[in-house]
Amino acid sequence: MRVAVFASGGGTNLQTLLDSCRPPEAAHVVLVASDEPAAGALDRARTAGVATHVIPDPGDGDAIVEVLRDVETDLVVLAGYLKLVPLGVVRAFEGRIINIHPALLPAFGGKGMYGAHVHRAVIESGATVSGVTVHLVNEEFDRGKIVAQWPVPVKAADTPETLAARVLEVEHQLLPAVVLAAARNGKVVRLPFPRAAFSAADAPAVTNTAVST
Ligand code: GRF
Repeated sequence: MRVAVFASGGGTNLQTLLDSCRPPEAAHVVLVASDEPAAGALDRARTAGVATHVIPDPGDGDAIVEVLRDVETDLVVLAGYLKLVPLGVVRAFEGRIINIHPALLPAFGGKGMYGAHVHRAVIESGATVSGVTVHLVNEEFDRGKIVAQWPVPVKAADTPETLAARVLEVEHQLLPAVVLAAARNGKVVRLPFPRAAFSAADAPAVTNTAVST
């Protein structure tokens, strides 16, 4: 399975794909594209010897489809890509574009919900569980069908930074798991809920304290 990765930022999730999509696995990263010429993700691709592309106009779906077809893309992975994918690309690669989101969708998603904004909103909501979602991409931000979710506990002392770090560790496991499962099955498949990922020891002690509003 020939994988194209779109990333706007540093690309730690991309790195997990570069590291895991190798023989004997049937997945291979063939292109890394970014809307941001200075993205660390492009440096990671160059270091790994993978072709790169800077997207001149993220709204130009025809141009993006052409770039993806040129490298015979089977699967598109959005790994920290901050632009909306044009409808023409969604249609051309229906069911073959996935995105990773650092919370449990459908909560805490949508336009403007990225990076620290997501984790701050989770903490402010009082939620005790956050997590990671991988979903199919449609024409709306964070609304496509969910493919895999892993929970991550939110701790009382969490800041957006500490929660982001705990969530990112799980992202680095879940994204390669979804991509390698897709490669083995020849299409994106749903992953079961991982019982081991959220141990009872992580759960906060139950106390009868009042909820402050
Ligand atoms: C991750 O939290 C991902 O879920 C979100 O953007 C972040 C990208 O991080 N969509 P990185 O560039 O992969 O390090």
